[in-house]
Amino acid sequence: MKSPQAYRGNEQTYVKHFFLERYLERVAYIILSNWPKFVYVDGFSGPWKSRDEQFKDTSFIIAIDKLREVKAALRQAGKAASPRCIFIEKNPESFAELQSVVSRIPDLDIAALQGEFRDLIPAIAGEIGRQFSFVFIDPTGWTGFDMHNLDPLLKLRGEVLINFMFDHINRFVEHPNPKTAEGFNSLFGHPNWYDLYTDHIDKGLSREDAIVAVYMDRLRQVGGFAHVTCTRIKKPLSERSYFYLIYATRHWKGILEFRKVEQRAADEQESVFGATRRLRKVAQTGQEDLFARADVSEPNLPFEQQRSLKQSLARSLLFSIIRENHEIAYESVLGKVLEIPLVSVQDLNGWLAELRKAGAIEIVGLVGRERVPKPGHVVRSLRTQDNIAE
Ligand SMILES: C[S@@+](CC[C@H](N)C(=O)[O-])C[C@H]1O[C@@H](n2cnc3c(N)ncnc32)[C@H](O)[C@@H]1O
Repeated sequence: MKSPQAYRGNEQTYVKHFFLERYLERVAYIILSNWPKFVYVDGFSGPWKSRDEQFKDTSFIIAIDKLREVKAALRQAGKAASPRCIFIEKNPESFAELQSVVSRIPDLDIAALQGEFRDLIPAIAGEIGRQFSFVFIDPTGWTGFDMHNLDPLLKLRGEVLINFMFDHINRFVEHPNPKTAEGFNSLFGHPNWYDLYTDHIDKGLSREDAIVAVYMDRLRQVGGFAHVTCTRIKKPLSERSYFYLIYATRHWKGILEFRKVEQRAADEQESVFGATRRLRKVAQTGQEDLFARADVSEPNLPFEQQRSLKQSLARSLLFSIIRENHEIAYESVLGKVLEIPLVSVQDLNGWLAELRKAGAIEIVGLVGRERVPKPGHVVRSLRTQDNIAE
């Protein structure tokens, strides 16, 4: 993919592509190391607002480049990896560009389809069948991917990543026009999504967290996913949210990989957006160009506050999991706790070490000098419920 400078004015897209590229690499590598087939679907593929003649700043080329790399690496290791891409684009001019580019790529199995994503879903889901898929849904607003249309894709074996356009949706949540409210019911796939939203508000969630939570709950229910989580992409020039990448998976390993990518993407977001803000300041004040210092990370209080808030939520969740389960598999704890954004496996292991030291738990399966729990181990609580105090 291109450098952040190539995305100037659209830095949020840079972070989205940074995330997609790294997560896709991990999931494709893991799946294709174990099975020969992997299907990647980009439901709103573009090209869209590309400034590069080779389309290196678009999700479809980023995916093609990454999947070619993974395929070559696995082939070298003696594995017959066959990734397949399915790209969907409605706009005729964009589709013509898409098709012209992909028709010149001989070494990857690619289908480019023109049409409305929702109309093509049944055929795509049928074609994927039992193969592992990773579906990326990156719309321009909140239409064209109603929950009931997504249903067949959500029930596949694989995972989904949805760009949930929070900023757009938020502006219309309290809209007096009943047609707008109806539109949201379709997005959330519920006859009265607003009731679900107010339930979350009543439990103390902010308006923003409540909107995202309803969507994640609905994905979990409709797709029967074991884990749903999200990562927040901000507006480059403010601390406000632009959109959320919402991710659903059936396996704790997916959550672990997602959080690892988030760690890198969050640092990148802070660094690139910090540079963008400095650049904007320079343009306004006429001072020297500080863009060259983009990699010097500036302490960003709101981000650090956000991270520590999420970490205390995760720590509380861990304590309640231990209170409610006398014994629980380490990987189940990991899957649950790492659903909370900005929390790492090192954070989790640190809290477990504290609890062990305090005599509140033991890790069944640790041998010899082993200190760090791993999948296969069991977290066993050693105290009565009330004694596991935070
Ligand atoms: C946000 S852009 C996608 C950007 C692209 N995923 C990327 O990151 O480079 C959305 C794209 O979806 C196309 N589109 C909009 N509505 C669609 C629909 N209902 N079905 C398929 N494509 C659609 C638009 O023409 C546009 O190219």
